[in-house]
Amino acid sequence: MAHRSGRHFLQIPGPTNVPDRVLRAIDHPTMDHRGPEFAALGHEVLDGLRHVFKTAQPVVIYPASGTGAWEAALVNTLSPGDRVLMVETGHFATLWNRMATKLGVATEFIPTDWRRGADAGVVEAKLREDKAHSIRAVCVVHNETSTGVTSRIGLVRKAMDAARHPALLLVDTISSLASIDYRHDEWGVDVTVAGSQKGLMLPPGLSFNAISEKARKASAAAQLPRSYWGWEEMLASNKTGYFPYTPATNLLYGLREALRMLQEEGLDNVFARHDRHAEATRRAVRAWGLEVLCAVPEEYSSSLTGVMTPAGHDADHLRKRILEAFDMSLGTGLGKLAGKVFRIGHLGDFNDLTLAGTLAGVEMGLGLAGVPHRKGGAQAAIDYLAECARKPARKAA
Ligand SMILES: Cc1ncc(COP(=O)(O)O)c(C=O)c1O
Repeated sequence: MAHRSGRHFLQIPGPTNVPDRVLRAIDHPTMDHRGPEFAALGHEVLDGLRHVFKTAQPVVIYPASGTGAWEAALVNTLSPGDRVLMVETGHFATLWNRMATKLGVATEFIPTDWRRGADAGVVEAKLREDKAHSIRAVCVVHNETSTGVTSRIGLVRKAMDAARHPALLLVDTISSLASIDYRHDEWGVDVTVAGSQKGLMLPPGLSFNAISEKARKASAAAQLPRSYWGWEEMLASNKTGYFPYTPATNLLYGLREALRMLQEEGLDNVFARHDRHAEATRRAVRAWGLEVLCAVPEEYSSSLTGVMTPAGHDADHLRKRILEAFDMSLGTGLGKLAGKVFRIGHLGDFNDLTLAGTLAGVEMGLGLAGVPHRKGGAQAAIDYLAECARKPARKAA
């Protein structure tokens, strides 16, 4: 393909743009992962991650995509035939459910219309019905990347407590960690699953489990076969800053840098930035006369916005025109949303002008692709960003 000047706009909801600082950090000679210098790197990234997950408990790092960490969460805690509640928030919840079924877990998949998050009331009712406490786990995707809907995990926790049910809580934060406020310990989450390529601003290739004491106890009795994903060997090595098998050393250099960047900005500022960009994006969508896919304002995602195209207008045609004309990638509609929805990623290494450029590209693309809309969406977003910029400066990190 011919060279295109300027930077490609990678506005899919992950993988996200990798900041230069992280790219430079990755670009160092690979070191001996059993040598004396490695332990300092291991300790720094493992400690830094705990801060981002808001946990005092262990976090493990796999050289794997997020799907690997999904599998790790299941095989470390469950046994064949175990009952598990999962919520069909969208495409990714569907894939996780499919994986659990393949592994021999008996899932009950609570349906939604893919426009809302997990209903804590339904979870509570299902758990109350289970007088024998045979349900072993509740699995929820915190931020459903296929729809742009954020489930309220604090409410799910409350529902589980109200039902006095001992099930484990397993949560996928692949597109929310380090973008949307998340509290592993406070919300009593037993296993949090995350990945490197979204809010953590790294290339794909690392994924994580944050593990509660209760999950660790459950893993001692869990019978699903596991070897590569097993927590115990990993935790034993991690104590000294090392790994039981070859880690993705250069991605760990990048992770160390990304964690430092998040620390410098301050997590609260990071979340406020994502909230601001999400609000500006929704203002643009409304001004265009289009509809945000998420139907519940309290569940709007701050890391991406799913936008519905009017009936008869293929969202993938719009995405194609935008890529050809403006060198910008937007997220496709996944599963049953194919052709009906496009997704604007506004997470990771991202600022007001990146968003202004992104929305300008979408607005020009709507015109090129002949999608009926009103002009002025990008302007509505710019007005909001300018208004925010007038307010007091951000909190000290
Ligand atoms: C919410 C969510 N869960 C799971 C996955 C799967 O992760 P991966 O593609 O890194 O294996 C993704 C990927 O985008 C995701 O967004």
